[in-house]
Amino acid sequence: MSPEALPHRARGQPSGNPLAAAQALIAQEMEAIDRLIAEHLDSEVALVGTVARHLILAGGKRLRPALVVHAAGLFGHAGQDVRLLAAVVEFIHTATLLHDDVVDESELRRGRRTANALWGNAASVLVGDFLYSRAFQMMVRVGRMDVMRLLADTTNTIAEGEVLQLSFLHDPDLDESRYFEIIRRKTAILFAAAAELGGLVGGAKPSEYEALARYGLALGLAFQVTDDLLDYCAAPGALGKNLGEDLREGKVTLPLILALARAEGAERERLRRAVSEGGTEELDSVLATIDRLGALASCRARARNLAEEAIAALTTLPASPHRDALADLARYAVERA
Ligand code: IPE
Ligand code: IPE
Ligand code: MG
Ligand code: MG
Repeated sequence: MSPEALPHRARGQPSGNPLAAAQALIAQEMEAIDRLIAEHLDSEVALVGTVARHLILAGGKRLRPALVVHAAGLFGHAGQDVRLLAAVVEFIHTATLLHDDVVDESELRRGRRTANALWGNAASVLVGDFLYSRAFQMMVRVGRMDVMRLLADTTNTIAEGEVLQLSFLHDPDLDESRYFEIIRRKTAILFAAAAELGGLVGGAKPSEYEALARYGLALGLAFQVTDDLLDYCAAPGALGKNLGEDLREGKVTLPLILALARAEGAERERLRRAVSEGGTEELDSVLATIDRLGALASCRARARNLAEEAIAALTTLPASPHRDALADLARYAVERA
């Protein structure tokens, strides 16, 4: 293949896999980050390592660390501080997953039984706390107040987002603006922080790291809207998670919100009841309804628009293979099946 062919593929043309293209560029760096992650899982308390390793070594897409590395790479920067911060955002993400699976009573994650299913809720919550605090120990080693401020604010916002979501479970009147407020907090803010962190340690100007934060926020929204769509319609087994979890626990997400706005009469009442009651008995009929009302297609379109917004935020940043990779990640976030 000619060297000129590479950037074409890296831009995620239909022939290429955008995630693979974005990952290939930083494969060595990601391996080093995985080693750093593994090293920092050690604890004198054996159960901590057992639970943390079960989830972390099961894989995961490592999207958030990749954002840190690509964002720093835009400014020609790589090194130990980038690796540490990449590991930090993955630890924070993993902590939220441990807590999330307890709250959501989920039994499958990354193709494995969840930690809560295997060791119980208490162990999951406490090891989640360990990972949060380990992340803070690691970020302190970077020794920058701006980094610590950003991560402190981010984790606080995530916690608020999870509580906000909890307070709206089983509420069929949850509207679109509240939904976006929840997903901005629980998910998008960490994508924004990851991209911004890369900019900060890479030596970006304020206008540049602010653009990276806007990119990350729009990407994170696109990612969660897609996750919520896939919870209804992914191929079984494709996600490594059980499907239909959101309806089961009465979590109202964009497919349902759009369907509720379009449904009328008895159909609308049936959707509202499915939300208030939760459970999986109504899943097939709810899925058929939201599909027939065009809510899945609209949801996909919203996610694509958000991904375009993310890509647009990159235009003022230095052109480079890393910028192409960031754009690829935004495409991947919404095209994954
Ligand atoms: C799962 O995130 C939680 C959401 C924000 C939907 P990912 O889909 O990035 O999870 P892993 O790390 O790849 O397992
Ligand atoms: C994302 O919400 C959770 C976090 C941001 C921690 P979900 O509950 O939809 O995530 P999954 O589907 O369990 O991965
Ligand atoms: Mg969940
Ligand atoms: Mg989900």
